Amino acid sequence: MIKAITGTKDILPKEIPNWNNLEGVVRNAMNSFNYKEIRTPIFEETRLFSRGIGESTDIVGKEMYTFIDRSETSITLKPEMTASVVRALLEHSLDKQSQLNKLFYISPMFRQERPQAGRFRQFHQFGAEALGSTSPALDAEMIILAYQIMKQLGLSNFIVKINSLGIPSSRENYKILLKEYLADKINELSDESKKRYETNILRLFDSKNRDDKKIMDHAPLLIEHLDDESLEHFEEVKQMLLSAGVPFEVDPKLVRGLDYYTHTTFELVSRSVGSQSALCGGGRYDLLVKQLGDRDVPGVGFAAGIERILLAMENEKVIPEIAPKIDYYIVRLDKELNRKVFEIATKLRVENSVEFDYTQRSVKAQMREANKIGATKVIMIGGEEFERGTAVVKTMADGTQEEIALEMIK
Ligand code: HAM
Repeated sequence: MIKAITGTKDILPKEIPNWNNLEGVVRNAMNSFNYKEIRTPIFEETRLFSRGIGESTDIVGKEMYTFIDRSETSITLKPEMTASVVRALLEHSLDKQSQLNKLFYISPMFRQERPQAGRFRQFHQFGAEALGSTSPALDAEMIILAYQIMKQLGLSNFIVKINSLGIPSSRENYKILLKEYLADKINELSDESKKRYETNILRLFDSKNRDDKKIMDHAPLLIEHLDDESLEHFEEVKQMLLSAGVPFEVDPKLVRGLDYYTHTTFELVSRSVGSQSALCGGGRYDLLVKQLGDRDVPGVGFAAGIERILLAMENEKVIPEIAPKIDYYIVRLDKELNRKVFEIATKLRVENSVEFDYTQRSVKAQMREANKIGATKVIMIGGEEFERGTAVVKTMADGTQEEIALEMIK
């Protein structure tokens, strides 16, 4: 039997109400904060992501679904949206049409990671990007937006972690310090961290290896070596979060796995799911647009993993009960009336949701089905009433019945 590809999953009809509920909450919140939806293609030229996300990141180094298409172009299924949004902004000169572009998306993403609970190879993100301003108000707004969505979904067992990676010059100076600190400890590092020491030294803070962790526990922290401008920006973000009543923790080791960040980085981390606990991640990226195009447009954004959020909602028991509902179920009392039932259903379906039986089941079985699919009313076609040109309409909630003329049903 052919099965779905490892790390992908079918979203079955019974799960769809949860997805729709989540997407509804997201769309409402995006609307409240005045973010406009953008949809970009599922695939892009590979160099968009390798240049945008960074050659030395895990995503680019080992997780992208990349292939050469029939016209010899290297194509990649999008592993994240920020680079695509920036490409679209530049390509359509959105930055020239308005000074600030506030955009949101809901879309599948693809990364060839090792599948586990909360980690998939095709997964879904919703996210937001604000392009065109360096204001710390937008950094704070992103965090508040993500926080508010989680709260509106009913989640409470999560924390907001924030950090600042500052501007590149202070980060470069700090990297020298970190290199110096690690210079006589390289041999004690895991193989992965030895590699990262050369390619992406900040990511050593992400290592799950116990020995690495012990070493990194005593490493100098970037936040203690930030320049005044970066500190000021960070302070402003913190003050705004405080005044919005959003609780947060400063985590100086929050470095994030993508290369484009400057200043603020943040994650919302769940306490009710397993190791894949980051519900959402984001930050400021003031240099990415310039790196991908010819213009200087600062940006800030976040993306959240829908599967992980739904898992957290399940574990926190906050998935709303959404009972199935349909306006009418038409019960056929006489077998010969199939065509009449079909005709009435078709007429009613113009403005109502309607179902009937396609399989010649007994009246009792049809009534059972009507109950199961949550019919508000049942229309019974047949018997003496049909001879009289009428039908019995039963309201399921209170069992009341009325007789109405067939021609009145529309
Ligand atoms: P990211 O941290 O790579 O950031 O991903 C954001 C979120 O997507 C994660 O916190 C997680 O919930 C979800 N996610 C990532 N990988 C997987 C996976 N394999 N399976 C299930 N869920 C996953 C970004 O993607 C950036 N573009 C965020 C951003 C936007 N930064 C600025 N703007």
